[in-house]
Amino acid sequence: MLKLDLSNASSFLSQDYLSSRMEALEQARVMLAEHNGPGGDFTGWVRLPVEYDKEEFARIQAAAKKIRSDSDVLVVIGIGGSYLGARAVIELLGSADHKLAPNKPEIFFAGNGLSTDAMGDLIDYLEGKDWSINIISKSGTTTEPAVAFRVFKGLLEEKYGKEEARKRIYATTDAHKGALKGLADAEGYEEFVVPDAVGGRYSVLTAVGLLPIAVAGVDIEALMAGSAEAMDVLAKPGADNIAWQYAAARNALYDAGKSVELLVGYEPSFRFFAEWWKQLYGESEGKDGKGLLPASVEFTADLHSMGQYIQQGQRILLETVVKFSKSRRTITIPNDPDNVDGLNFLSGKPLQFVAEQAMRGTLLAHVDGGVPNLVVEADARDERTVGQLIYFFEYACGLSGYLLGVNPFDQPGVEAYKKNMFALLGKPGYEEQKAALEARL
Ligand code: PA5
Repeated sequence: MLKLDLSNASSFLSQDYLSSRMEALEQARVMLAEHNGPGGDFTGWVRLPVEYDKEEFARIQAAAKKIRSDSDVLVVIGIGGSYLGARAVIELLGSADHKLAPNKPEIFFAGNGLSTDAMGDLIDYLEGKDWSINIISKSGTTTEPAVAFRVFKGLLEEKYGKEEARKRIYATTDAHKGALKGLADAEGYEEFVVPDAVGGRYSVLTAVGLLPIAVAGVDIEALMAGSAEAMDVLAKPGADNIAWQYAAARNALYDAGKSVELLVGYEPSFRFFAEWWKQLYGESEGKDGKGLLPASVEFTADLHSMGQYIQQGQRILLETVVKFSKSRRTITIPNDPDNVDGLNFLSGKPLQFVAEQAMRGTLLAHVDGGVPNLVVEADARDERTVGQLIYFFEYACGLSGYLLGVNPFDQPGVEAYKKNMFALLGKPGYEEQKAALEARL
């Protein structure tokens, strides 16, 4: 199981930071367990690692097998909670660079923005390849994926004909309602469900994440088993519960004036896990004028760009470091008889040793510079550990939101830009807003 080291934050925390929050944490635990706190209708993710649809899980595995056998590329269309979790897990367990650790089939993500050129590049890349689509949208009406789906569905039908294209489109959406549900029913696409009680940013362990993740060759049973392990451990109340400690520490640091939490990774493949984490915490806590701003950095690369600010800029930061203790490989630093670069004192040492000292040195420097460091210690970069990390951060996020006094399971602010965009695009029903916005622009 993961470990949490708070020793490099202790000088910034009062003695009673945890004990003074135990009552509120217990209330939060009960609200999550009994689904009766604010947003309780969207806490279906709490027991998801064991209470999931086993029949659907088998269908996900079968669909993944088919896609692996008949496609060079899977185009995964979705945005936000219907996108980030799958990419986070696929990259963290593989590589940030497709060329270095190619998935077979390759997975490309579309519909997560509105860039014409990015879409065009992918369209060119698909030329001459066999491919399939997984369209993911709970509402079925989100503009970015809906537009992308129109385009890629058209191309797929052009290539294979309507009948065969139908067999290459997999729709993950609401069980009962929405535009995508209607279309999937009418066309006869294979369908997977975003459960009613699970919001987008908590949905990675549903078909939303699991189908693309399985297509990438990840063992989704081991992923679920890892998350179930974390669920069992973190459900137990008490001061030694690491989700309680993490939620309490970040809440205490926020109360003490910190306003930005940087998630720190040392693996390039961790980048999209950090993007997933930012959505999780940003959408869950950033409301009512409250909340730590979630941001992320990749060390040691960003020590040469953001390092200056972290060390000496505004003292508003805390860092949460996710540390993987084992590399998958060993690379030893060679000896150089000329020693022109003066690095022979490292000859024969594993690169991992150098990385560890960089991590330790950075941590102490940042603490000396006034940045508390919370360290989540993970073991290997494998399915089990990643399942634990997902559940740990989700559960701690639910606790954190309740400690902060917000509803961690809604996202009313996301609507504001959508309404303006619909109005400016001329969607019927938005005529008045359109005129008002145009006048301002
Ligand atoms: O967390 C959320 O609710 C959002 O990020 C959604 O996941 C995102 O807007 C996509 O929504 P949908 O799946 O309905 O297309």
